[in-house]
Amino acid sequence: MDNCVYLLLGAFLLAGSGSDAFTSTFFNRSNRAGYYRPRSTEINFNLLAKKTPLQTGYTYRTLYFDQKVDHFGFAQDQTFKNRSLAASAPIWQFTGITPCNAFYDVTTATWARASETCVANANKGYSTLEQIGADAAGLKFISSTFRLCDALTSMADVETFKGFLSDMYVDFAMVDYPYPASFLADLPAWPIKEACKPLLAPLSGKALLEALSQVTNLYFNYTGAAKCVNWKGDGGTPALGYLGWDYQSCTEMVMPMCSNGTGMFYKMDWDFQVYSDNCFKQFGVRPRKDWIKDYYWGTDLSSASNIIF
Ligand SMILES: *[C@@H]1O[C@H](CO)[C@@H](O)[C@H](O)[C@H]1NC(C)=O
Ligand SMILES: *[C@@H]1O[C@H](CO)[C@@H](O)[C@H](O)[C@H]1NC(C)=O
Ligand SMILES: *[C@@H]1O[C@H](CO)[C@@H](O)[C@H](O)[C@H]1NC(C)=O
Ligand SMILES: *[C@@H]1O[C@H](CO)[C@@H](O)[C@H](O)[C@H]1NC(C)=O
Repeated sequence: MDNCVYLLLGAFLLAGSGSDAFTSTFFNRSNRAGYYRPRSTEINFNLLAKKTPLQTGYTYRTLYFDQKVDHFGFAQDQTFKNRSLAASAPIWQFTGITPCNAFYDVTTATWARASETCVANANKGYSTLEQIGADAAGLKFISSTFRLCDALTSMADVETFKGFLSDMYVDFAMVDYPYPASFLADLPAWPIKEACKPLLAPLSGKALLEALSQVTNLYFNYTGAAKCVNWKGDGGTPALGYLGWDYQSCTEMVMPMCSNGTGMFYKMDWDFQVYSDNCFKQFGVRPRKDWIKDYYWGTDLSSASNIIF
């Protein structure tokens, strides 16, 4: 593996996961026995490991620096035809390596840098949704305030909508670039600072939900073209196809995540058995919690090369 991009496969799989070919091949239960192990290994690693010609003219850009990456080998991705350089790879976000609260804590910290009050308002938003969504008039208020494509009709819908908001807060943090960009959504520079503008004073009740609807409006309607907000399905990142990510994390890349319910997120426990059962329900597969750590030596990166951070 002297000329490969080590394990940077999170975004790699996401890049291709929206396609029909991907869906029919990798989510096809009738292929299950055949595809689960060999194929997922092949796609993630063997292809990446092949020696490929070096590329020129690519630049790797982060918040802090631009770096030419001409010296990196790019994966020849035969399934999706195009070459790919994967990034955004949380290579230590695995069982026993990183505490399950780390991801949401970092996300909350990103928002807190803009405003602690903004974080407190977002947190209060969850219980406010539950309170106001407890009757039909409240559900109607929420649906029209947030301009939802499908109205909320039950407490179960309120739960799903809470998850939708929490995913959106994560997406904001992932694309909190100092310049306008359109990676996951069209957004201005420093989108979190922008999102917090209506949330800088402590709010409650309907006023709080109205302010939060300005946040969804920023994320989903910065161009002004959105007719309504689609809280079902892929949420904030339809182009990436969450389904691919979900499948990957239901097989080889189990990433424990939890929140104690204090920051931008409501309380979420990490329970591997529950997670595994949900994977089985959705894809007919069960995750292998420690496989990736055992196979790739966990935090021991001494023999890896070409890692970009
Ligand atoms: C699933 O795989 C079977 C067997 O290879 C194939 O006949 C079927 O068309 C596939 N289904 C989809 C939805 O691609
Ligand atoms: C490969 O990249 C080209 C150029 O960006 C694009 O037009 C094409 O759709 C891509 N193919 C796939 C299979 O993603
Ligand atoms: C999106 O913005 C436009 C222009 O401000 C507005 O007319 C429209 O109602 C907005 N859509 C949603 C879903 O909020
Ligand atoms: C919740 O988690 C945050 C971040 O790790 C921590 O600062 C805080 O003390 C915790 N609060 C409680 C009540 O556990």
